[in-house]
Amino acid sequence: MVYQVYLRSFADSNGDGIGDLAGLRSRLPYLAWLGVDALWINPHYPSGGADGGYDVVDYRAVDPEYGDVADLEALVDDARRLGLRVVLDVVPNHTSDRHPWFQAALADPDSSAAARYHFAPPSDEPPNNWQSLFGGPAWSRTPDGRWYLHLFAPEQPDLNWREPSVAADFEETLRFWLDRGVSGFRVDVAYGLFKDAGLRDNPGSYAPTLFGHGPEQAMTWNQPEVHEVWRRWRAICDGYPDTMLVGEVCLADLEQVARYSRPDEMHQSLSFRLLKSPWATESFAEAVQSALDAFGRVGAPASWVLGNHDKERQVTRFGGGTVGTARARAAALLMLALPGSAYLYAGDELGLPQAAVPDEAKRDPIFFRSGGTRAGRDGCRIPMPWNASAGVGFSPEGAAEPWLPIPAEWEQYAVSRQTRDGGSMLTLYRRALALRAALPALGSGDATVGTRGDVLTVRSVGETETVRCVVNMGAGTVLVPCPGSVLLASTARVHHSAGSIALPPDTAVWVTED
Ligand code: GLC
Ligand code: CA
Repeated sequence: MVYQVYLRSFADSNGDGIGDLAGLRSRLPYLAWLGVDALWINPHYPSGGADGGYDVVDYRAVDPEYGDVADLEALVDDARRLGLRVVLDVVPNHTSDRHPWFQAALADPDSSAAARYHFAPPSDEPPNNWQSLFGGPAWSRTPDGRWYLHLFAPEQPDLNWREPSVAADFEETLRFWLDRGVSGFRVDVAYGLFKDAGLRDNPGSYAPTLFGHGPEQAMTWNQPEVHEVWRRWRAICDGYPDTMLVGEVCLADLEQVARYSRPDEMHQSLSFRLLKSPWATESFAEAVQSALDAFGRVGAPASWVLGNHDKERQVTRFGGGTVGTARARAAALLMLALPGSAYLYAGDELGLPQAAVPDEAKRDPIFFRSGGTRAGRDGCRIPMPWNASAGVGFSPEGAAEPWLPIPAEWEQYAVSRQTRDGGSMLTLYRRALALRAALPALGSGDATVGTRGDVLTVRSVGETETVRCVVNMGAGTVLVPCPGSVLLASTARVHHSAGSIALPPDTAVWVTED
């Protein structure tokens, strides 16, 4: 299981209100205790700060807010001693507008740096109809009137991957970090990089959001040339033992997503069908089955994502309050039963809800670029509550205010409180991860998905045992045959007698077959 650390919000060691590498390092024992295999850290690079670190100024350095390269090496060493791998986030589709290349390109349109971006000569209209995923046109003007392309914020100019020096530089970046002991990379916007060679209009009009692009954006994403990049990156990683590449691939068609993890490309590609599924058996079953099929065809492990730093927290997405929490607990058991790699977003193991962030505290460009019509992603990026005390232990005592406000009532979600509570979300995750580590049927079984009305079943056959995960997604209690034993239930309200289980609404169980 890969645990996604939102570095800025994980743990603050020096009291500036910002999470950092030393803070994360001090919390590694927690991750080992929880049962994590690897951690993926959101971008740690010096950044312009326009998009939560995804606007990188220097790919071979650490933002001083987070520490330095020595801190990262110390983190990797400590993690390894605890049996944890460290995976970094690499951002090849765009740089920050403060990156030295873009600065040089602004200063001189004829510079070699200018060839590394997409510029177009001054004219009244932008070169095409492409839209930014954060809202508005994907083209902005330079001070001297040229257009430049940014599929995200204007502070994130898109790189021109048809210019060979771009590829060469990223390959050096990969080696830089691999030489420092990291176990691989989560590749941001891996379905991007190359654009249509003629920068032609996308067909018709469209209003993009972050996940699941289809044919309406055929000219902007998923160009065939990008796969050659992943082949080269794979060859580099193959030179370092036990490393991996996992791509963020926001395409609607899972067959296309899976092509990014063909045997000579990345080891995995992140798919977001589960993350987008409403609480209903058909939609969950389809999400699971289509991913098993698509990744099975290319021989790659499926990836499962229920939450990340771009999406509303699960508890809230599934209805909020007791209902949302019950569903998030059940969804956790479903995800951790499935074969492949599960990705757990920091704080989801605590059942954190989406926080309401006051407008004046917001940071996300989505909020600003939509003129406030979209709430933005800040509410899923709030600092972690560690202790049930004022300040919730994110920072040392007497520290500056946290970079995003932590709701006062979040003491109730604190790690310290949940570790002592046998019924907490954290305890559920820890138990589930321990079972998953012990039983091959969970996480590496041969899975079949079935539905009957509001009940979803995943039956996983492992080498030595068969486990069924049964989820009741309906409004009434259902009777589930259970000849074997109950390994784990998402609620204490499960009654097992005479070979069957009464499964309440919004709950899940793991049962053995004999
Ligand atoms: C990815 C990241 C997101 C970021 C975007 C631009 O989708 O997950 O947080 O805003 O790329 O880099
Ligand atoms: Ca700090």
